[in-house]
Amino acid sequence: MLRFAVTLFAVITSSTCQKYGCLEGDTHKLKPSPEPNMHECTLYSKSSCCYANFTEQLAHSPVIKVNNSYWNRCGQLSKSCEDFTKKIECFYRCSPHAARWIHPHYPAAIQSVPLCQSFCDDWYEACKDDSICIHNWLTDWEWDESGENHCKNKCIPYSEMYANGTDMCQNMWGESFKVSESSCLCLQMNEKDMMAMKYLLSESSEESSSISSSEEHACQKKLLKFEKLKGEEGEQTR
Ligand SMILES: *[C@@H]1O[C@H](CO)[C@@H](O)[C@H](O)[C@H]1NC(C)=O
Ligand SMILES: *[C@@H]1O[C@H](CO)[C@@H](O)[C@H](O)[C@H]1NC(C)=O
Ligand SMILES: *[C@@H]1O[C@H](CO)[C@@H](O)[C@H](O)[C@H]1NC(C)=O
Repeated sequence: MLRFAVTLFAVITSSTCQKYGCLEGDTHKLKPSPEPNMHECTLYSKSSCCYANFTEQLAHSPVIKVNNSYWNRCGQLSKSCEDFTKKIECFYRCSPHAARWIHPHYPAAIQSVPLCQSFCDDWYEACKDDSICIHNWLTDWEWDESGENHCKNKCIPYSEMYANGTDMCQNMWGESFKVSESSCLCLQMNEKDMMAMKYLLSESSEESSSISSSEEHACQKKLLKFEKLKGEEGEQTR
């Protein structure tokens, strides 16, 4: 009971003292705020680091380009692969939690955001037959004078570029993401993230590589409850 009270207190203080604002990217706000009229990335509409107008570019399929970055340099992405690419774009641009993992040297970048293994595996499955010419999105494009990206290397299937979901998650965006050892204290870019964040925010700020087993346990219990609730509501999670 005491542990519970302490955890709760940590959650409350960390969310009230605004320790984390937004990243310092060119589309980021200073602080997250509600964006009720978002076209995409609605997971973050209650508290968003992007303006609703940013998401207009993501609202039509196929997405051709987002802020000068063309997504179709190796041909149009399949719908399923595009959906995952959007989830990543939305997280980076709009999530009020991204700054929890701000890169120590590049305030526009993130480092080691814990993704769930299942999310990475599903993402890989969705994209494996699509084509790609970069191994690392952050460093491998050739940028022209108007700020547009071009392939330096030839287009090959994702399945040739990356061995598996882990390889893809941990390389496609440089150091931005890592695959978590936990199946609960990790992000998967859906409603369950809000619950995982409660525990991830209460983790000590020192880089703790091992996850406390009591937090893992509490998270798993909460996840089960959440899934049961969703099941009873008969809601299709999307
Ligand atoms: C998007 O909206 C914000 C605030 O409403 C505004 O400051 C910004 O200039 C807009 N950006 C574009 C590209 O329209
Ligand atoms: C991205 O879009 C924002 C407005 O939404 C603009 O201020 C910024 O300069 C753009 N960045 C690039 C690299 O085009
Ligand atoms: C994924 O690929 C990496 C890099 O090739 C490899 O080290 C790792 O064992 C693979 N993981 C699985 C689960 O196959």
